[in-house]
Amino acid sequence: MTDSKKSATLTIDGASYDLPIHSPTAGPDVLDIRKLYAQAGVFTYDPGFTSTASCDSTITFIDGGKGELLHRGYPIDQLAGKSHYLEVCYLLLYGALPTAAQLEDFENRVTNHTMIHEQMANFFRGFRRDAHPMAIITGVVGAMSAFYHDSTDINDPWQREVASIRMIAKMPTIVAMAYKYTIGQPFVYPRNDLDYASNFLRMCFAVPAEDYEVNPILARAMDRIFTLHADHEQNASTSTVRLASSSGANPFACIAAGVACLWGPAHGGANQACLEMLREIGSVDRIPEFIERAKDKNDPFRLMGFGHRVYKNVDPRATVLKQSADEVLELLGVENNPLLQVAKVLEETALNDPYFKEKKLFPNVDFYSGIILEAMGFPTSMFTPIFALSRTVGWISQWQEMISDPTMKIGRPRQLYQGETLRDYTDIEER
Ligand code: SDX
Repeated sequence: MTDSKKSATLTIDGASYDLPIHSPTAGPDVLDIRKLYAQAGVFTYDPGFTSTASCDSTITFIDGGKGELLHRGYPIDQLAGKSHYLEVCYLLLYGALPTAAQLEDFENRVTNHTMIHEQMANFFRGFRRDAHPMAIITGVVGAMSAFYHDSTDINDPWQREVASIRMIAKMPTIVAMAYKYTIGQPFVYPRNDLDYASNFLRMCFAVPAEDYEVNPILARAMDRIFTLHADHEQNASTSTVRLASSSGANPFACIAAGVACLWGPAHGGANQACLEMLREIGSVDRIPEFIERAKDKNDPFRLMGFGHRVYKNVDPRATVLKQSADEVLELLGVENNPLLQVAKVLEETALNDPYFKEKKLFPNVDFYSGIILEAMGFPTSMFTPIFALSRTVGWISQWQEMISDPTMKIGRPRQLYQGETLRDYTDIEER
C-alpha cells in the first residue's frame, strides 16, 4: 500500500473528518476508514462487501472491467498455456516463478506428503455412502487438525510452511478418497512416480482389478482446470478462510471453513448447478424458456455459470475453459456432446439478450468447467470438490500472507441494528 498524500473529507452534522486515501499498484484507490468510528462515532454500511477492501494483498489482481486476472503479475491465460499447477502453486505461495532447482525441490516436497495418516481413512466410513463428497471433505479436512499437531502452531513459520505443503499435497488424496467412498470402490493410494494431476486421476479412476494408464490429454486438461481455479482475490471462501484464521484457529480448521463456504451454489457449487441446469434445459429449443425465467423477477431461477461480482465483461478463465472444452471433447470423440451444444447456444443467446447485456452477465469460470469434468468421467457431485482441491493453494497463500502480517487483527465487523431497544422482562402471567 503506497501512502498517497490524498485524503477525502467527510462532513457529518457540521463536523469534518479527513479520511486518508491509499493508492494501490493496480486498481482503485481505497478510502481508509479505520479511525472513522473512533473519530465520528459512525459505522460504514456495506452488506455483501460490494465496495469494501478487507485487506491489502500482493497475490492476485482482478480488473473486472478489462476481464484481467493476474497471479503475482502474470496473466492467467499465459499461466494456463505455459505453466502447470504446481509451478503456479509455487508462484502463489512464494511470489516468484521458481528456478528449475526450486521447482524440483517443491514438487518433491509435495509428492512426499500426498499420503494421509492411515487412521484418517476411518473418518470416511462414518459417512453414509450417499453423502455429498463436499460434506465428507469438509469433515476430513477439519479432522486433519487432530492428526497433524506438529503443524498447527501458526506463530511458527516452519509449521506454517509444513501445513501449507501438507494441505496442497493431501487435498487430491482426500478428494479422491471421498469419491471412491461414495461409489463403493476401494481407496487408491497416491503414487510418487506420477505428476500431480495424473496422480489425482489415477486415485479417482484406477481399480485394483486392473492396471490404469493415465491419458496424458486428460491429465493436461485436469492440470489446466486446477490452474484456472487456483486463486481469485478476496472471494467468499477466501474471505472465510481469512476471517477464520484471524482468530488464530489452526490452518486445517480454517481451510475446512473455506471448503464449506465454497460449496454454495452462488460460489463454487455453481459448476454442479450449471451442469444440472444444462441437463434440465436438455435441448436448444428450450433455451428461450429458461432465458425468460432467468429474467423474471418473480422466478428465483438464475442462469448458473453466468454473472460475477467483479468481472463485468468477460471472465478470462471461461475463455480458456471454452477452448479446453472444445479440445478435450474433440480428443475424447464427444465433440457432439448435446450439453456442449446447449451451452454454446445458451451463451450466444444470453450474450445477445438486452437483459444480460445491461446486467453485464456472461459465462464465468463455472460455465464450461462442468462440461469438461463430465466428459472426463466425473459425476456432477465431484465438480465442487475439484474446485476446492484447486483453490486450496489460494486459500493457503492468502492465509500465509495474513498470518505473517504483524499488524493482523481479528476480523470483527459491526452492524446496523434494527431490533428492539431496551425493554424489561415480563412474567408469563402478564403476556
Ligand atoms: C464463483 O467471487 C469470486 O471470485 C467467485 C469465483 C472464484 O473464483 O472464487 O469467481 C467463483 O463463485 C463464480 C460465480 C459462480 N456463481 C454462479 O454462476 C451463480 C449464478 N450467478 C449469480 O448468482 C450472481 O451472478 C453472482 C452470485 C455470481 C454475483 O452476484 P452479485 O454480484 O451479488 O450480483 P447480483 O446478485 O446483485 O445480481 C445483479 C443483477 C440482479 O438483478 P437486479 O436485482 O439488479 O435486477 O443481475 C441479476 C440479478 O438478479 N443476475 C442474474 C444472474 N446473476 C445476477 N440474473 C440471471 N442469472 C444470473 N446468473
